[in-house]
Amino acid sequence: MLEEKIVGIRTRALEELAQCADAAQLKTWENSYLSRKSEFNQILKDLKNLSPEERKKIGSLANETRAMLERAYGERSAALLSSPTAWEEERIDVTLPGKKFPLGHLHPITQVQARIEDIFVSMGFAVADGPEVESEWYNFDALNFPKNHPARDMQDTFWVDGKFGKDKYVLRTHTSPVQIRYMETHKPPFRIIVPGRFFRNEATDASHETNAHQFECLMVGTNVSVAHFKYIAEQFFSAFFGRKIAVRLRPSFFPFTEPSFEFDINCILCRGEGCSACKGSGWLEIGGAGMVHQKVFQAAGYPRGKYQGFAWGFGLSRLAMMKYQINDVRLFMSGDLRFIRQF
Ligand code: PHE
Repeated sequence: MLEEKIVGIRTRALEELAQCADAAQLKTWENSYLSRKSEFNQILKDLKNLSPEERKKIGSLANETRAMLERAYGERSAALLSSPTAWEEERIDVTLPGKKFPLGHLHPITQVQARIEDIFVSMGFAVADGPEVESEWYNFDALNFPKNHPARDMQDTFWVDGKFGKDKYVLRTHTSPVQIRYMETHKPPFRIIVPGRFFRNEATDASHETNAHQFECLMVGTNVSVAHFKYIAEQFFSAFFGRKIAVRLRPSFFPFTEPSFEFDINCILCRGEGCSACKGSGWLEIGGAGMVHQKVFQAAGYPRGKYQGFAWGFGLSRLAMMKYQINDVRLFMSGDLRFIRQF
C-alpha cells in the first residue's frame, strides 16, 4: 500500500517538475513535494505504525525517493535559471536607448568625382576608364611626345621595373593615354570624361603630390571647335561652383594638342576682384587643354584630317581643394581620419 503510494507520488512529482517553467512554479512544486508539510512527509510520519521489517523497507524506499526528488529539483532549477525562455530571449525592450552604428562615408575626392560625373553625364558625356600602370606607348609615344621629351625623364615618371613584351611600363603620368585607348575602340562623334589617378615622381609640397587625381575631357567629331571647349568648360564650372564662372585661355604647349592652352577660371574666393589665392589676378589656373593633334588621331587609327576634337585635363584634387578650401593636396591621400571625417 504505502510502497505504491510512494511510487505514485514520485511519478507525479517528476512529471510535474518537468512542466515547471519558471521560478514561481518551482517554488510551488517544492512546497508540495519537499517541504515539511508535503504529502511525502505525511507518509513518513505513518512509518511508526509499521512492523520493523516493513518500516525498514519502506523507510529506505522513502529516503531514496526523497533524495531523488531533491536531486531532480536541483537540476531542474539550475537548468531553468541559466536558460531564459525563448520568449525572454526574443523580447525587444523598446524603451532601451538605440545603439549607434558607426557609418563610413565617401572620401572627398570620390564625392567631387561623383559630382563632376553627374554634371558631364547631364551634358551627354560618357565616363571612360583606363589602367594606372600604362605602357610607354600609350602614356607618351601615341600622344606625340618626342623620344627625348623631358617628361619621360626619371625626374617625372615612375618607371616600372622590367619589360613586358616589347613595351616598357610606367605609372601613368596623366589620364591622357585613355584618349588613345578609347579612340581605338570607338568611332566619332563622341564625348567622354576620364576621372582617374595619376603619378608624378617629384618632390611633394602643399600643391604637389606624387599620387593625385585628374580629369580628362575629350570631345571628337567632324566640326568640333575651341568654341565648344569654352562653352562646355563654362557650363561645367558654373554648375560645379553654383554660380556663373568665366573661362580664360592662354597659349601653351602640349605635344598632343595643337593649338594648346592653359585655362583659367574666375577666382572663386574673390570672384575676380583679386585676392591672395589668385595672387591679385582674379584668375585661377585650372589645367591644360587644346585641339587634339592630328598625329594623336593617327596613332589611334583614325585617318588624318577627318576629325577635330578638343581635350582638356585638370586636377580633380585641385578642384576639390577649391571647393572645400583645403590648403594642402597631401591631405587627401594621407589616410588621416581626422581630415577625412570633415567631409
Ligand atoms: N595631360 C595634361 C597634363 O597632365 C593635361 C592636358 C590634357 C592638356 C588634355 C591638354 C589636353 O598636364
